[in-house]
Amino acid sequence: MISQYPHLIDLNDYSVKFWNKLLTQAEDIIKNPALYANSCNGKIMGTLFYEPSTRTQMSFQTAMLRLGGTIIGFDNPMTSSVSKGENLKDTTKIISGYSDVLVMRHPVMGAAKAAALTADCPVINAGDGGHLHPTQTLTDLLTLKMEKGTLENLTIGLCGDLLNGRTVHSLCKAMSCYKNNKFIMISTQKLAMPDYIKDIIISNGCAFEEIPSLEEAIPQLDMLYMTRIQRERFDSQEEYLAQKDTYILTVEKMKLARPDMIVMHPLPRVDEIEIAVDDDPRALYFKQARYGMYIRMALIWILLQTEEKPELLKGELHPDLICKNPKCIIHQEKYLPKSFIQTGEHAFQCEYCDEKSEF
Ligand code: NCD
Repeated sequence: MISQYPHLIDLNDYSVKFWNKLLTQAEDIIKNPALYANSCNGKIMGTLFYEPSTRTQMSFQTAMLRLGGTIIGFDNPMTSSVSKGENLKDTTKIISGYSDVLVMRHPVMGAAKAAALTADCPVINAGDGGHLHPTQTLTDLLTLKMEKGTLENLTIGLCGDLLNGRTVHSLCKAMSCYKNNKFIMISTQKLAMPDYIKDIIISNGCAFEEIPSLEEAIPQLDMLYMTRIQRERFDSQEEYLAQKDTYILTVEKMKLARPDMIVMHPLPRVDEIEIAVDDDPRALYFKQARYGMYIRMALIWILLQTEEKPELLKGELHPDLICKNPKCIIHQEKYLPKSFIQTGEHAFQCEYCDEKSEF
């Protein structure tokens, strides 16, 4: 039987109304933190981090502690039974039985959904490989709302590793649900935005443009979202080095931007933003990280009470089809139901990683 809890795997499983409720809740927590100090007394959050993290893990932990709850979990799977060969299902089944909410980060696409299928409490996706990162997007929405005062009519520049950056995938999926936003994609051809994200932007009625030059794109932006080249997602060090340092935001380039353009970055930064840019009042990435803690407080608080339970699998089972994306969890956890949404006569979209395969 498929687990029935308010999991957060993909923000788009919920309505925009629900996202707005989370944002309003976070704003209230920012104004009145003392009111929420005991709101999760007696509740336990499990954090399963199969991949390194600083902000996401610690902002979730501090969020729960600031709500009065407690935390268990690991940030190094090699010190858990995972090192003995335990599969994803068993680990998450056990820890979800100990917890009231589970937060999971994993290097493989679709892992959070795979874990949620049999979990005994709500599962929050804290990043699944190069796929999605919904709570970073909630952080980004809150930052935009607080700092630009709106989530509509914005020209958003996305710069860096648009192929492997899960933060920009989730951000495009969410921001294209608000009116009249435009996306300027600034990347090399090799690290361009995946087609399935471009399709979503178009079907949501928004526009995008690909401009490979940061200098050319920057004057028209309301917000510039810089990203790290995702070294860990490349097949070889040579391929990574060939892409690294293509885009570096400098004080000089900031002179080309509008006085009200803001710079965001999910962090960690490597070399893509010169340190001197930090002193520019338009550089908001450190403030953005703090908003991440407040929106995660709102998320935990609301998920522990909501009646909404979005369906995890919406397509059909096709036991004979195998997703052609080698980075999908289906290849690692063989017991998973092979569920696809048919998008054409021979085209099937995998429900774990969202990649389309032709059969
Ligand atoms: C991002 C991530 O893990 O995807 N960081 C984060 O969660 N704040 C971006 C990155 O690792 O480059």
